[in-house]
Amino acid sequence: MPDGREIAVRSDDVPRWQDKGWLQWDQVYTVIYNSQGENREVLRIDLDLWRGQGWSDNIADMQTTLFADDGSRAAVWNDYVEDSLAGGLHLTEAEAQTLLYGADGTEMTVWNAEVEAYLTQGFYRTPEEAHTVIYSPDGAEMTVWRAEAEAYLAQGWSETPPARSTADPNRPMVALTFDDGPGPYTDKILNCLEKYGAKATFYVVGNRLGTYSKQLKREAETGMEIGCHSWSHTQLTTLNASAAANDIKRTNDRVNELTGIRPATVRPPYGSHNAAIRSAAGAPFILWSVDTLDWKTRNADSTYNAVMNSVKDGDIILMHDIHSATADAVERIVPALIERGFQLVTVSEMGSARKGGLTAGSAYSSIRP
Ligand code: NI
Repeated sequence: MPDGREIAVRSDDVPRWQDKGWLQWDQVYTVIYNSQGENREVLRIDLDLWRGQGWSDNIADMQTTLFADDGSRAAVWNDYVEDSLAGGLHLTEAEAQTLLYGADGTEMTVWNAEVEAYLTQGFYRTPEEAHTVIYSPDGAEMTVWRAEAEAYLAQGWSETPPARSTADPNRPMVALTFDDGPGPYTDKILNCLEKYGAKATFYVVGNRLGTYSKQLKREAETGMEIGCHSWSHTQLTTLNASAAANDIKRTNDRVNELTGIRPATVRPPYGSHNAAIRSAAGAPFILWSVDTLDWKTRNADSTYNAVMNSVKDGDIILMHDIHSATADAVERIVPALIERGFQLVTVSEMGSARKGGLTAGSAYSSIRP
């Protein structure tokens, strides 16, 4: 009976007793649980009594599902939930997960335990970290997803802000440029430029950067402009436009790898260029208005005179930092130009002071007021 009274009957008498209100065992008894995971068998008619004391015949009432950092879940007796939470389990699935951001801005929810692995694969904890700030050659600043930055960098943008021009646009200025380096005389030229607080632009050749990485880094650290003079001094017009652009990119990548700076301007070897190549390279091409012929004369007097006899405001002066005589000439040219009232600036500084920036795809042989 529901109150627990028992009688033993013959199997074939069962229906008859049931008609009189007798029940089988599991209709009379049930198993109940408490929040510590204990269980006992009690009479169903006493269930409400037990419920009032915190027991239940539904095991799920006494358990809570918790979530682990690896995505697994566990049913924990209610009394042990606090301890389990303290031990690193979570009440909700969301707490066991972290939202990460890809370099292209995609969002991904991963289990907490997977976060470290994703961080090493180019994911970020915050949208801010998945962004980077890049700068156009004329100093415009833009925040883009890291994945988008590459395309801009190939167009002459940089991850470092361009040197702010301190040039006074109303005073005469010239840009000294040095091609074909870095080389053994680069340091001597840098010593002189530093001594007079002068700036210059170095158009470097990619395949020399490993050997002369110290000189390259010093150019960057002393605030000189580093420009691209191709990977191996190839005449770019012998290549198709995309091969020429790749040659320039390869050089710029190497400079960037070594200095964190990305060249913003190109000096084409032999001054040889065309519109298709300029446009594919997506950078201003810088020629010259004063050719010192220093590579030919290898004579300091001759180089000095080539500059001082013709120099005008806005000139771009071509020299090469791989000749000893050029380094000697520079030691006289720099103070003489300053004495004549010229500001010695980088090509991009002159472009920014005089034109509000240089235009990608255009060619410049001087930057006049
Ligand atoms: Ni050259």
